[in-house]
Amino acid sequence: MGVGRTGAARPDDVAAQPRLRAGGARQRRAALAHHRRRDAAEPHGDHRLELRRHRDRGDPHPDDARLRGRDAHHALELGHDPVLGAEPERLPGPLVVVPARRPVHRARRNGARARQLRHRRVREPAPAQCGQACPRAAQEGLHADRRDRRRHHGIRRDRDGCRRRRGGEGVSALPSGFLFGAATAAFQIEGAAHEGGRTDSVWDAFCRVPGAVIAGDDGEVACDHYHRYRDDVATMKELGLGAYRFSTAWPRIRPGHGPVNPEGIGFYDRLVDELLGAGIEPWLTLYHWDLPQELEERGGWASRDTAFRFAEYAVDVHAALGDRVTRWTTLNEPWCAAFLGYAAGAHAPGRQEPAAAVAAGHHLLLGHGLVVEALRAADPTLSLGITLNLTVVDPVDAGDPGDLDAVRRIDGQINRFFLDPLLRGEYPADVREDLAAVWAEGLVQEGDLATISTPIDFLGVNYYHGEAVSLQPAAPREALEAPTDRPTSTPFPAADGIFFHSRELPRTAMDWEVQPEGLTRLLTRLHEEYTAPRGTALYVTENGAAYDDEVAPDGSVQDADRVAFLEAHLAAVADAVEAGVDVRGYFYWSLLDNFEWAWGYAKRFGIVRVDYATQERTIKASGRRYAELIESVRSGLAAKR
Ligand code: FCB
Repeated sequence: MGVGRTGAARPDDVAAQPRLRAGGARQRRAALAHHRRRDAAEPHGDHRLELRRHRDRGDPHPDDARLRGRDAHHALELGHDPVLGAEPERLPGPLVVVPARRPVHRARRNGARARQLRHRRVREPAPAQCGQACPRAAQEGLHADRRDRRRHHGIRRDRDGCRRRRGGEGVSALPSGFLFGAATAAFQIEGAAHEGGRTDSVWDAFCRVPGAVIAGDDGEVACDHYHRYRDDVATMKELGLGAYRFSTAWPRIRPGHGPVNPEGIGFYDRLVDELLGAGIEPWLTLYHWDLPQELEERGGWASRDTAFRFAEYAVDVHAALGDRVTRWTTLNEPWCAAFLGYAAGAHAPGRQEPAAAVAAGHHLLLGHGLVVEALRAADPTLSLGITLNLTVVDPVDAGDPGDLDAVRRIDGQINRFFLDPLLRGEYPADVREDLAAVWAEGLVQEGDLATISTPIDFLGVNYYHGEAVSLQPAAPREALEAPTDRPTSTPFPAADGIFFHSRELPRTAMDWEVQPEGLTRLLTRLHEEYTAPRGTALYVTENGAAYDDEVAPDGSVQDADRVAFLEAHLAAVADAVEAGVDVRGYFYWSLLDNFEWAWGYAKRFGIVRVDYATQERTIKASGRRYAELIESVRSGLAAKR
C-alpha cells in the first residue's frame, strides 16, 4: 500500500521444535521437484537489462540526481510536470507518463542496449476521443496511448455495453512459468482468535481501543478461515492458483511468545499439506503485523530485543514446516508496521512516537536479517525474501526544486529507508539526515547492517498506487484514511511542508488512485537500481483494489472495476517483463474479502466475496477473469496472440 490508508495524503495530517508429521521427506522431495520444474521454466533470470545510471544519460543536474530519484529525472526530461501538466486547462486530457518500449527484436537488430525503458510524454485522450463509445472509458484511465487504448478495448467487457475479448491480451509477454497467486494474512482471515491456544496480538488489543477501528470491528471471527481452510484451498484450486501467500500467526504458534503451541503450529501443518495436495505452492510470510501483545508490553518493535524473539519464532516455524515449505518471506511491509503502528498510530499498537517508529523500522530490518541468517544456516536450499510496500513518487511541479526535494524525502522515508539497508548494506545518508531528530544514538549497532543485507533470493513488492507530492498546498480531498474517531498523526517524521496531491486518475473505494504504469516504473527502477546487481528476483506479492461490490439478484458479483484493475496491472507487469525486468510472479490481494485493518470489514479487496453473516464464499467476476488469464498464460495461448 501507499500512504493513502492513513490519511497521510491529507494536507492537515502533515502536522527447536520436533517435526510434527510423518511422511515429511516424501512431501519435501515432491516440493523440491516442483520448484526445480518451476525454476527451469523461468527463463528470465539473466538480467539482460543493462544498468543505466542517471549521469550516463546526461541528467542536467547530476549532483542531485540520486536525491531527486529516477521519477523526478524523467519528469525533468519531459520538461515539465508529468502529472498535471503545466497548463492543464489547455490540454484535452490529463498527462500521464508511460514506459515506451522498443520492440525487443528491433533493439537486438540495432545492437542497441536491449530492452531499455524510455519514458515519454503522452496525452490521455478525453473519453470522447476514445474510438469506441465506452461508458467506462472515463473511469478506467487505461488508454494513455495507442497501445493502452488497444489494451483498454482488448479487455473483455460486460453489461455496460463495451465489447470484451477473451484471452490473454496484455499479458502475452508473461512466460508460461510465471507464478500466479493470491495473498491473505492471518489476522485478516483466520478468526478463531482465542481458540487452539492463540492469545492476543497487538491487533486484538488495538481493536479494543475505542474508536481505533471502524465500527469497532475485530478479528475474532473474520473469514473463519481457521475452520474453513479446506474449502478455501479448494477455491484456490478452482481458480488455478499456482501459489498461495499466507502468513503464520506468531501468537497462535508461540502464544505470548511462550513455548511452541502444538495446536497452533498444527493448523499451518494441515494448511500446508492441503495446499501441496492441491498442487498449490505455499508461500509463507512469518510476520504480517500480529506481534504477541506481551512483546509489545515489553517495548514492541521499538525494543531491540523483539528482533531476536522474532528469529526464535521463525526458527520454530521452520522446524515444523521447513520440510515442505521452500518459500519464506520474513516480513510484510515493515513500513506499515513501524510508521503506521508507531508514528501515525493508525495501526496497532497505535503509538504516536516518531523516534519509536524509526527504532521499530530498524529492529524489523534487524529481525529480518537474523531470520535470513538462521534459516539459511538451517537449509541453504530455501528461497528467502522480504515484502515491502513500495511506491512511485512524482513531483507535482518537476521544475520546482522544492517539489523535487519533497519527492526525495518521501521516496527516502517509504522506499529507500528499507531498500538501501537490505540491498546495499547502508541507510541512505540523506534519509538519516532528514530523520536525525528522531534517530536515537546507538540505534544501529556494529554488524547490524551486515546482518540486514544478508543476501536474499527475492524481493516481494506490494504496489497499490503512486504519490504526487509538492510543497504547494493540495486542494482539500475526501477523507483518505479510515474515518476513525481516534486521532492519528503523520506516518512521516520528516515531511514538514509536504502536501500529497490528487491527480485526475480513477480511484478505488479506498480513494487510492489507479495508476498501473506506476507498477512498471517501480519494477524497472527496483531491477535497475537494487535487485539485478545482486541477482535478486522480483515478485509482486500484493496488488489489488477495494470496490463497493454489489451482489446481483442471481447471487453473482460483477465487479467490472476490479476486473479492469487486475487486467491493467497484469499488463503493467507484462510490460516490465518484456523490458527485461526479472519479475517472476504476481499475487492478487486478496483471495477473500477480509478485515482491512482500521477500516474493519468496510472495504472489500477479494476476488472471492465473503458473506460475513453466513461465511458463504462467491467467486466474483474478477476471480473468474483471473482464472482465465492464468490459464491463458500457463497454456501459452496468451503468448501466441
Ligand atoms: C497492504 C497490506 C494488506 C492489505 C492491503 C490492502 O498494505 O499488506 O494486509 O491490507 O494493503
